[in-house]
Amino acid sequence: MNQHIKGKFITVEGIDGAGKTVLVSTVVATIRSAGIDIITTREPGGTSLGEQLRNLVLTPENDFCAEAEVLTIFAARAQHLEELILPQLRAGKWVLCDRFTDSTYAYQGGGRLVDHKRIGVIEEWVQRDFRPDLTLLLDADTETSQSRLLNSSGPPDRFEMENIDFHERVRETYREIAAKESGRVKLIDANKTELEVSDLARDLMNEFLAACHG
Ligand code: TYD
Repeated sequence: MNQHIKGKFITVEGIDGAGKTVLVSTVVATIRSAGIDIITTREPGGTSLGEQLRNLVLTPENDFCAEAEVLTIFAARAQHLEELILPQLRAGKWVLCDRFTDSTYAYQGGGRLVDHKRIGVIEEWVQRDFRPDLTLLLDADTETSQSRLLNSSGPPDRFEMENIDFHERVRETYREIAAKESGRVKLIDANKTELEVSDLARDLMNEFLAACHG
């Protein structure tokens, strides 16, 4: 699967309301100012089929069991890899994805308590050895992120409607992933100001760019 991949695959992660939008724009600006072509996409979604599956998964009225939720998200991911992510990386473009498989471990594994090993089996099946080159994880305490969510516009989706314990478990799982995979996953404290978060993200991206060229 990794054959002929020339671009880099970067993902951005965090609990709902952590403030990923600012992070995504800083990462893109830093990469582009280094003269590198990067596209942005998101999960679940990123393709026509994927966006339809996203709608199904996020609509509060839909009653998914946890297994159906995992499989639908991975169905969208398989399509995304095949149709967009891998062709772009093979063409030498960099790809920035707003959420990827760490979200599945955090939300379905941590939040819905699906066994991580079962998620791992599907990850292996869909992605083989394909993993992000770099992941920026925005970590905020749940009070901060919940209050940001309350102030944001639009009705809450099926995950945003979950209780505080669910979001605590999501956060805890993300932090466990960051501790286990500290080479790939860089934790950014989202309780800092937007400006401080941007500065940290820019520094991390410049370090990554230097390592890519070195
Ligand atoms: P999000 O990325 O926060 O989009 P928006 O900023 O438009 O609200 O919303 C996507 C939701 O999907 C988020 O609540 C987490 C959830 N999700 C999972 O539960 N598992 C996954 O594997 C992915 C990719 C997302």
